[in-house]
Amino acid sequence: MSESLHYSKGSAKAIIYQELLPQLKALMADESNYIANLANVTAVLKEALGFFWVGFYLVEGHQLVLGPFQGSVACTRINKGKGVCGKAWEKAGTIIVPDVDQFPGHIACSSKSRSEIVVPVLQDDKVVGVLDVDSDCLDAFDEVDAQYLEQVVRMIRF
Ligand code: SME
Repeated sequence: MSESLHYSKGSAKAIIYQELLPQLKALMADESNYIANLANVTAVLKEALGFFWVGFYLVEGHQLVLGPFQGSVACTRINKGKGVCGKAWEKAGTIIVPDVDQFPGHIACSSKSRSEIVVPVLQDDKVVGVLDVDSDCLDAFDEVDAQYLEQVVRMIRF
């Protein structure tokens, strides 16, 4: 496994995502432990895309529990239907929030977070977790992020 990432710093994010996909695939190819793989996915996304916070929440009963992440300390449990993460779980679909202050029920783990995208992780058509990415800028996420982050989570094997 290569220890360094290769990506075109300063390029459009679609280019960087395209460069990361095969590297993520290779990183996870020889590792069966999903916690190890989730941890590396967060490290890759944080390093290459400079996200403010990136991490997984994993379904445990009626709650999401904090999993591997990169960034500052975060809330550990989120109920189904609560916050952006709980809503993405409930609807089993990606949610893009251009301004967290305008999202009713948003859970603020950091006051620096301004916009957010949450992508559900599905296994056999069931949501088993979510990938949550926060930015300290408004309106940081769009369909490009949704499309590529959905591809990233589809690579993960639980
Ligand atoms: N903002 C999320 C909570 C998790 S933190 O952003 C890390 C939410 O509203 O579900």
